[in-house]
Amino acid sequence: MSSTRRDPATYPPYFYEAYRATVRRSPRHPPVRLPVTLSELTGPGPAVSQVSTEDADLTRNMGTGEEAIGERMIVVGRVTDHRDEPIAGALVEVWQANAAGRYRHKVDQHGAPLDPNFLGWGRCLTNADGVYRFVTIRPGAYPWENHPNAWRPPHIHFSLLGPAWGSRLITQMFFPGDPLLALDPIFNAVPAPARERLVAHYAHDVTQPGYALGYRFDVVLVGPRATPAEPFEASARDRQ
Ligand SMILES: [Fe+2]
Repeated sequence: MSSTRRDPATYPPYFYEAYRATVRRSPRHPPVRLPVTLSELTGPGPAVSQVSTEDADLTRNMGTGEEAIGERMIVVGRVTDHRDEPIAGALVEVWQANAAGRYRHKVDQHGAPLDPNFLGWGRCLTNADGVYRFVTIRPGAYPWENHPNAWRPPHIHFSLLGPAWGSRLITQMFFPGDPLLALDPIFNAVPAPARERLVAHYAHDVTQPGYALGYRFDVVLVGPRATPAEPFEASARDRQ
């Protein structure tokens, strides 16, 4: 996967001036290619035995017995390779702000309320058809310090982990019709033709009557239709 990850038609560049964090963290020298050894190709993979069905319901997985506040949503998607073959057994992890735009993280000092019943993190495994499914609440927008009056559009962070540590993809899912997308340097760092692959589609067949709205967000791991991945796997640390 590593050789295709930096296809400039799909993936954002390491350095994108409007996205301020890339100024200090993009490499100053050409990358040094390291040989991939068996340890990267064969493991360790995810601890799949630890994944429970409760982990995939972010409206309840805080474990308080109470439900998180916000607009409920169901997000489903299919994870495939370049031949449209499903990837079964991949660990899909998500993390997100709460409905008010606040992460449960010590560096998040946004003056929006924390929800005592929202953890903001979940995980599940893709099934035999490569399909994952989460129940969550729609995240809020939040301010960040990239530039004056900067706001991240509502988004859900995704990590997909295959059978070995080297087969990891980190990306973000956005919402259709969001006016903040045009102003977001992280979204706009992605080459224009590939940007729409980061935007979920409203899916009425996924919507459950009287319960939650449905969205579909498919992920293609490699190839010309690949889902753009982040330039650095550091978004959790940097709270983007
Ligand atoms: Fe974020």
